[in-house]
Order: sequence, then structure tokens, then C-alpha cells
Amino acid sequence: MSRFAPDVHVLTTAGQVTLWHARTGRHVPLSEELLGEVLRWTPGLLPPPDLAPLARRLDELHLLRESVPVNVGALIPCRSRLVLTLPDVPALWMPDPAVRTPGGHAWRELVLTPGRLALWRACNGSRTVAQAATTAGLPLVDAVEFLRELTSPGAQAIQLRERPVTRRDPSLERLVAPARGAAPRPAGQYGALGETTLGAYHHSGITDGATHFDDRETTIAHAFGVPHPALGGQRYGERLFDVLDGRGYVRRDAPIVEVGPGDGELGAAFLSRVGGPVDYLRIDASPELLRTQRGRMPGTREILGTATSLPLADRSVGLLVSNEVIADLSAVPYDPSRAADGAAAEVEARLRRYRIPPHEGPALYNLGAWLFLEEIARVLAPGGVAWLSEFGGLDELPEETTQLDHPEVSIHFGHLVVIARALGLRARVEPLADFLRADLGAQQLARHSYEGLRARMRAEGRHLAARAYTPESLALPWPVEGLQWVPLSDPGAGPLLTRFMALTIERE
Ligand SMILES: C[S@@+](CC[C@H](N)C(=O)[O-])C[C@H]1O[C@@H](n2cnc3c(N)ncnc32)[C@H](O)[C@@H]1O
Repeated sequence: MSRFAPDVHVLTTAGQVTLWHARTGRHVPLSEELLGEVLRWTPGLLPPPDLAPLARRLDELHLLRESVPVNVGALIPCRSRLVLTLPDVPALWMPDPAVRTPGGHAWRELVLTPGRLALWRACNGSRTVAQAATTAGLPLVDAVEFLRELTSPGAQAIQLRERPVTRRDPSLERLVAPARGAAPRPAGQYGALGETTLGAYHHSGITDGATHFDDRETTIAHAFGVPHPALGGQRYGERLFDVLDGRGYVRRDAPIVEVGPGDGELGAAFLSRVGGPVDYLRIDASPELLRTQRGRMPGTREILGTATSLPLADRSVGLLVSNEVIADLSAVPYDPSRAADGAAAEVEARLRRYRIPPHEGPALYNLGAWLFLEEIARVLAPGGVAWLSEFGGLDELPEETTQLDHPEVSIHFGHLVVIARALGLRARVEPLADFLRADLGAQQLARHSYEGLRARMRAEGRHLAARAYTPESLALPWPVEGLQWVPLSDPGAGPLLTRFMALTIERE
């Protein structure tokens, strides 16, 4: 006989066990060891002392065989914040916990009768099941049957609680689901030493410049490519221009160079603020993106080239901007206790040259970003400035991301500052949000709501750009209920702004 109450499922995902009550949707995560201890504890006897707190919790949630059975009618249905309501269908639009996709989860539609829609709406987090059924005009037995579908591990759309939810509860914003696997990646993105090598990816792997930053990777500049209250109603490129210009960094008498302009949105917004003719040169490793930029930025020059060997004359550049590019440049594994060759030998030589103590043991080093810095030191004109942004930290070891279709590696900005100073430049690192004077309390559409809308639009053959939407800027072809709005410090459609740093380099 099971140790647990009827309707309790033991789910195992990625080495983590979850006890799930299918009638309430309440659940408790456990390690396999703890589960073993619970299974060894004989029903009817007191639990061993170190198991007592967990035993109390399991009992409170009616999960044990000897627990009091659930009285569903008296419990309070609390809706998952992931689920959207499509009143026109009418249907719930919900993520499928069992199906992971590169973008999150598969989403599915659960068509509702008018009575069930009314019940779903009546579940306001404080009414009991019985009260919600009365409000919706649905017989209690029908309400209970519907809720049973929503509390199952396969739906995870409702939790039945003893008390109303009084504050944000993370368990209503996530699914108990298998871990997301690494994104599938084409071959050829690593060299013989394991260093990242994205030349081929950028040259021919980017095939749709118009949607690349919605569907395959989203940058901060792209998410804020539309006016946003966090930036005082400006677009990212406009705000960047204003801050750089405010600090006296924008010179009109020498070329402005943008390295890796992506889809050109940042540059186009930047140029809209320059207010006069200027020599703007775009350098990019992707022919497809250069084409996309050309469409957005007529009258600018372009060169297919690489950041680590800039096709520019010495001391010729007044301002160089490179937003979210350096994590794409080669990162190289190096271990000071082993003989180094190839790119690792280049890392070793530079660690010595710039007097950077190596990390004890194997680590990744941002060699490509260092080479770019050396090039910047060569091409900046006297009084010139380079501005770079990327995700990373002042002293965190570089780490590779796994969620994209190509490897990007976070930046150790402390190393960049040491190298820039050794190259005779002034260097300053600030959190990107501070640099842009961004209001982190401003609202944006939560990432899970964005994922749901994007999946729905895709199901209809439509495209939803990956933007930091506000209630004012989100335009949808149909009504939807249940969208969540969160501050910029929480995940939205794009990357987390708070993960990014800005590096300003000046040649005196
Ligand atoms: C993550 S995207 C950033 C795009 C844009 N700056 C933005 O913030 O939205 C990286 C950009 O850098 C370009 N890029 C990557 N490696 C490069 C390299 N070695 N030299 C020049 N451009 C490169 C890519 O083609 C792309 O335009």
C-alpha cells in the first residue's frame, strides 16, 4: 500500500522528486534521499525527529496516507500566473509541462464552455471552490470536475489552497517539468582546444536579419528598440546617444564606428539624435545583418570584417560603439598547470604581458574581447572614446550560455579594465542600467506571458517581436486576460538588463 494519499503522484524530473496532489495541485519537492526516509517511516508511528518538519508539511497538504482527506469545496482555487485566457474562443492557453522547446514550453489550448470560463474567472484567489461555483452559476460537482483537470500534473493551472495567496508566490509562476536541455547547435562552433569560434555562424548561419533578434537571440537593444518608460520614453539607441553626448563623447569631426550593429535598430535610433551629417561606419561579420542594417540606415558605410582585426587606420576613430558583441568573440579555455599551445598560448602570453594573475585551475578567458581592445587602442584617435556593453561582471569567471543556438560567453570586465589601462587608455565599468539611467522599477511584460503570446501568434502564423512591452505598447489581434507585468529587474522578453555592464574607454 502506498505511503501517500490517493491522488498523490511521485514525479521525478532531473534527479528531483516532487510529491504532487492531483486534486489540489499542491506539491512538495524532495531529494531522493528524503523520499527514501519518508517511505521508510511507518504510517501510524511518529516520524523520526529530523523528519518531523517535513512530515508536518506533507500532512498539511493532505499528501500522506493518514492525512485528513481533502475537502475540495472549502479550498481556495489560485490560478497559475502562466495561464492566459482567450475570452473570444473561449479557451485557456497554457504551457504543457511535459513538452520543452528551445523557447520554453509547448503551449496548448483548452477550450472552455461558458460555465467553465465563468468559473475560471471567478477563481480570484480568495473565493473558495464552493463560492466560485456559485458566482459562476455552475453546479459544485461540475466545478470540482473541471478543477480536477486543472490541478493535475499535466496541467498545473490551479492550486487549491487553505488560505488566499497574499504575496507573489513563485510556485504559481513555474512548472514542475523536466529541465530545459541545451539548444541544438550546428557543428563548427568550437576549435581544437574547446575555444568558441563563431566565424562561420556569423558569416553564413544568420539567415533572416529581420527576425533574428526575435526568434534566435534577443539583445537589450532589440528589446528596447521601441520607446520605453524605463528610458524616459526613448528607444535604446536614442538614450545611448543622449548619455554619450551628454558626457561629451560624440564627435562629429571623426568617423563614428559601430561594430556588430545587428539589425541596425540601435544605430538608426542613435543617428536620429545626431542632428546633422556624420560619417557612420558599420562593421559586421554577418553579410545578412549588414544587408538588414543597410535598409534601416541609408547613407551609412559598411565593411564586412571582424572586431579582432579592424579594417581601420591607426588613430582614426572618434567614437566606437559595440553593443552586445564581445560575448560572441572567442573565449578560450586555459589551465596554468598545463602546457599551452594555439589560442591558449595567446591567453598565457597576454596574462603575462598585462600582469593578470591566472585563475588557479582551468577557466575560460575572453581572448577575443582582449584582441578587440588591442585593436581599439590602435584605432582610437586622440580624444576618441569606445563604448562596449555585454553581460558579465567585474570579477566573475566567464561562463558559457547554453540556451542559444550558438555559444556566448560572459565577460570578465575586470580583465578588460586592466588591459585597457595597460594599453594607455582610461577605462570605466558601470552597470548598464546605471549608465543608461534606466528606471528598473518600470514595468514590462513578464517573460512567461511573452512566451505564451508568442506561441499563440505562431500557432496562427503571426510574428510577435521580442520587445519589453508595456500595457500601452502591446498591440494584439485578440483580447487576452491574465498577462503579467513585472519590473525590469525581473525577466521579460529580452535578457535581464541587470546582468549587463558598460565599459567606457577613452584615449587622452
Ligand atoms: C548579439 S548581436 C548584437 C547586435 C546589436 N549590436 C544589438 O545589440 O542588438 C552581435 C552582433 O555582432 C556581430 N559580430 C559577431 N562577431 C563579430 C565579429 N567578430 N566582428 C564583427 N561583428 C561581429 C554579429 O553579426 C551581430 O551583428
